[in-house]
Amino acid sequence: MLIAQISDLHIQEGGKDTELIQAEHHLAVCVQALNRLAPRPDMVVITGDLTEHGRKPEYLRLKPLLARLDIPYLLIPGNHDSPAMLREVFHEHSYLQTGTPFIQYVIDDWPLRIVALDTTVPMRSEGGLCAERLEWLSNTLAQAPDAPTLILMHHPPFETGIRQMDNLGLLSGREDFARVIAPYSNIERILCGHLHRTMLCRVGPTVASTCPGTAHQITLDLDSAATELSFNFEPPGYQLHWQGAQGLVTHHATIGDFPGPYSF
Ligand SMILES: [Fe+2]
Repeated sequence: MLIAQISDLHIQEGGKDTELIQAEHHLAVCVQALNRLAPRPDMVVITGDLTEHGRKPEYLRLKPLLARLDIPYLLIPGNHDSPAMLREVFHEHSYLQTGTPFIQYVIDDWPLRIVALDTTVPMRSEGGLCAERLEWLSNTLAQAPDAPTLILMHHPPFETGIRQMDNLGLLSGREDFARVIAPYSNIERILCGHLHRTMLCRVGPTVASTCPGTAHQITLDLDSAATELSFNFEPPGYQLHWQGAQGLVTHHATIGDFPGPYSF
């Protein structure tokens, strides 16, 4: 199985950074890059911050851009999203209609079981996992303890070293999350967004990773005294998670036109 991951699309309508970031243009280029892949991924997972403000017109702009994907895709919300607007505009994505305030779901149709967790806190940038969500995760993992499993969540369950983003990280439920996943060596990976750049960290029995943004990237600044959060235009990217004989292999891919390939 081959899964592509993109994240943090931040589609917006108007606003001060629209011209600067050009999120729609960047997403269109990303979609072209994914459609050109051979072999074609079985699925694209999109790990949150689909829009900038969670407004309906933003989702209405996003939808036709994603309709250009030749690959099925799954959505989870990030802190910039509105679950209600996401559900309304993407109403045919039945997995979003969970019957609870949270967009948490399981997809059992593939060689990798996909478990999506909702780490968003209404009207807040930081993330959290309450007892209700963690109980759902605990029950869900217990249903298939041997199935190779991917967990999707917007806020990563680890401290990143980028201080200003850690202030907006998964501020509640992180230790309990670690306790819930601890018995499960079948969790191949925890795929996250939020950080707008690639990172890896061991979390209990598995590895958690973050994905680049499709448009702008968060500046790599590990200065513990940093007081400013900033973004830049390092090349955007996506990740390809390839299921090989030894488990899942993650490839970081850069979006753009570069010289080559040259034969050896
Ligand atoms: Fe984001």
